Amino acid sequence: MDYAPIIEKTIAKFRRSAALAAQDGLIPYQGNTARWTGSPWEGNSWWTCGFWPGLMWQLHALSGDDFFKAEARRTEKLLVEELNTFHYLHHDVGFMYLLSTGADWKLTGDEQSKTHTLHAASIMMGRFNPAGFIRAWNGAEQAGYAIIDCMMNLSLLFWASRTTGDPRFAHVARIHADTALREFLRPDGSVSHIVEFDPITGQRVAEHGGQGYCLGSQWSRGQAWGLYGFTLAYINTQEPRYLAAAEKIAANFIAHIRPDGLTDCDFCQPADEVRLDNLAGMIAACGLLELHKATGNAAYDTAARRLVDGVIEHCCDWSDSTCGILTHCTASYHDDGAGRHTNIIYGDYFFVEALAKLTGRDPMLWL
Ligand code: GLY
Repeated sequence: MDYAPIIEKTIAKFRRSAALAAQDGLIPYQGNTARWTGSPWEGNSWWTCGFWPGLMWQLHALSGDDFFKAEARRTEKLLVEELNTFHYLHHDVGFMYLLSTGADWKLTGDEQSKTHTLHAASIMMGRFNPAGFIRAWNGAEQAGYAIIDCMMNLSLLFWASRTTGDPRFAHVARIHADTALREFLRPDGSVSHIVEFDPITGQRVAEHGGQGYCLGSQWSRGQAWGLYGFTLAYINTQEPRYLAAAEKIAANFIAHIRPDGLTDCDFCQPADEVRLDNLAGMIAACGLLELHKATGNAAYDTAARRLVDGVIEHCCDWSDSTCGILTHCTASYHDDGAGRHTNIIYGDYFFVEALAKLTGRDPMLWL
């Protein structure tokens, strides 16, 4: 497929709808209507709030249009305020600040943005439990929870070590990645979503079902976080064990791509259930394209194109009556509060990152 016209249509739609976000003064979360809606919970501290500035930086890199840079910076300011609010922040500061302040520093060299990103990395370090893992969430009963999504956030720590020359951040990232390798990766190449550890001893206590269909099932977005996250851990460290994990997860994910190229919400969901999460497919496509670069194995490129071509054929909304593009994204299998079969901002982010990779124009904001 020729992706250049798709990129042009994408830039045109966001040029119009990003102006609406600026008018409304919000950070978009869902774009399935004529105006954007903001985070479902926790205001601008919600874990997805970095994807909008990340999307704006991607579009700026693709178009050269300063309008997108201005919109990225408008929302970067809002995220910097959340560093002071602090109490809602958790391990997803990786998602939030690599794609906002981190992207600004990477693409413009802005020193203040670099400082803010280091601040976020320090918050992430503060979540490390020396019993062997990075604590995911904040609830009192969740002191021992670690989740597969964190593999993506580790990139913030690798970035901080590279940027400062201080190896502490990368040490912590490796300790967590090794715990995830040991405790999350299953023999069939699938990964668990949540593993609970004793926060005193670090011993594994339980696995929890999380956002997937049931305990022990394969929540597709979790599979995608594992795929891309271990790939990034490999790119950051060159450790073959992380590459082997990424390839194992990739093989399982590829085996579950639907014939139409779309992605089920859980690879173990009942066969008669129609529940899609194209977000998962776009995250996996980005991971597969990086795996292709790392290994030279063309099967990863082919699989990524099946996923991207699938959503272009069936699940992209180019109309002017909505703000976002990717449809049929689902936040969680059993809880529709954050969206089911709808547009969700990080779906659009990873769709555009995948298009940028496919055309050799990705600024690679995760590194
Ligand atoms: N990181 C949370 C999610 O993927 O829903």
